[in-house]
Amino acid sequence: MTTSRPVVVVVGPPGAGKTTVAELLAQRLGVEVRDTDQDVEASEGESVQDIFVGRGEPVFRELEAAAVAEALRSHGGVLALGGGAVMDAGTRALLADHTVAHLDVGLARAAARVGMNSGRPLLLGNVRGQLKALMDARRPLYNEVATFTVDTNELTPDEVVDRVLAEL
Ligand code: S3P
Repeated sequence: MTTSRPVVVVVGPPGAGKTTVAELLAQRLGVEVRDTDQDVEASEGESVQDIFVGRGEPVFRELEAAAVAEALRSHGGVLALGGGAVMDAGTRALLADHTVAHLDVGLARAAARVGMNSGRPLLLGNVRGQLKALMDARRPLYNEVATFTVDTNELTPDEVVDRVLAEL
């Protein structure tokens, strides 16, 4: 069994830029990037959206928690978590032992980013309203697991990466 640990785990709400920043960070660090949404999709052979619609959110959350736990004990690079992963108490407990970068973002910017890339099952219809509810409910959880927080609002992805690297 491979045992390793992520250099840094990236968390934050949808639209915070986790995927882009994690990829750039991994390039700059010369390590691999992994994304728990992709891990779930690969192991289930189904998109996140299809899992939500066909099997329901609780099933997705169980698969996600298992994927996060596995990646935390085996992935030695940069790890991006799905935006809702921090809702799981077991996941939050595991994250206490890791370096976690929280990418913070305001509602307007997150809604603009998510609007450009929809297909997120929790954000159909009133994207802005749903995103606000989700961000309000989860902010304390991101803060709880964060080793440090980067306010991404006025920054380019490269500048966010600079800030994260300065914290490591
Ligand atoms: C979710 C965020 C998504 C994905 C799923 C649920 C959430 O990941 O895991 O659609 O609950 O916020 P991103 O944060 O990468 O969009």
